[in-house]
Amino acid sequence: MEKGQLLYEGKAKRLYTTNEAGVLLVSYKDSATAFNGEKKETITGKGELNNAITSTLFQELHRVGISTHFIRKISSTEQLVREVSIIPLEVVVRKTVAGSLAKRLGLEEGMILNEPIVEFYYKDDSLGDPLVTTEHIRLLQLATPEELDVLKTDALTIFQHMHDYFHSHHVRLVDFKLEFGRTSTGDILLADEISPDTCRLWDETTNEKLDKDVFRRGLGNLTDAYQTIADRIGGTIA
Ligand code: C5P
Repeated sequence: MEKGQLLYEGKAKRLYTTNEAGVLLVSYKDSATAFNGEKKETITGKGELNNAITSTLFQELHRVGISTHFIRKISSTEQLVREVSIIPLEVVVRKTVAGSLAKRLGLEEGMILNEPIVEFYYKDDSLGDPLVTTEHIRLLQLATPEELDVLKTDALTIFQHMHDYFHSHHVRLVDFKLEFGRTSTGDILLADEISPDTCRLWDETTNEKLDKDVFRRGLGNLTDAYQTIADRIGGTIA
C-alpha cells in the first residue's frame, strides 16, 4: 500500500490517497485543539494513542456487526479506511449531562439521563459548528429525512454498544460525537474516529476525566489520561 497525495488536513488528522481505488490513509497527528482551534498544543504520543484506541473501538464495532469505514491499522499513527463523502453533521449522543448540554440547559454536570439523547451540529468552523434542528438540516439540504433517521438509529445503537464496552472496562461513556459518510453506492457508514478526543470518558469509580476535557479545562496530563483508556481497553496492541 503506497501513501499518495495529501487530500485534507484537519485539526487532529491528515487524509491521504493511496494506490488502491476507494481506500484512503488516515494519519493521526500529535496536536490537540479546543474551542474551535483557539487553544492548540503539540502533544507527543497523542496520535499513536488515538490511532490505537480508534482502531480497537472500530474493530469492536465490526465484531458486533456494525460496519464502519475502518479497514486496518498499518502503523503506530496510520490506518486505512474506505473512502466516503462525509455528511457535514456532527451526531452527538449523550447519556450523562456534561459540556454544552449542562451549559445550554442549566443542568448539573453528572446527571444521568433516563434515555440517551441525540443532537445534530452543523460542521462549519466559520459558524462555530451550531446546534441544528431537523428543519435546519432540511433547509440546508445536509441530509434527507430518511438519512437522518438512519443517522439517529445508528448513533444510538453504536452508543449502546460502546457504553457497554467501556462499562466492561470500568469507564463511563458520558457522551460522544460521531461523523458518518456516504459510500459511492449511497450507503451510510460510520466514519472519522471514536477516541478520547471525541468522547467524554470518566472513571466509573472516581469520575476522573480521561478525555479531551483534561486539555480543554487544563486538568492535567492529556497523554496520561489517553494512555489509561488505551491500557484499559488493550488499545496499544490493536
Ligand atoms: O461540547 P459538547 O458537550 O457539545 O460535546 C459533546 C461531545 O461531542 C463530547 O464528547 C465532545 O468531545 C464531542 N465533540 C467533538 N467535536 C466537536 C464538538 C464536540 O468530538 N467539535
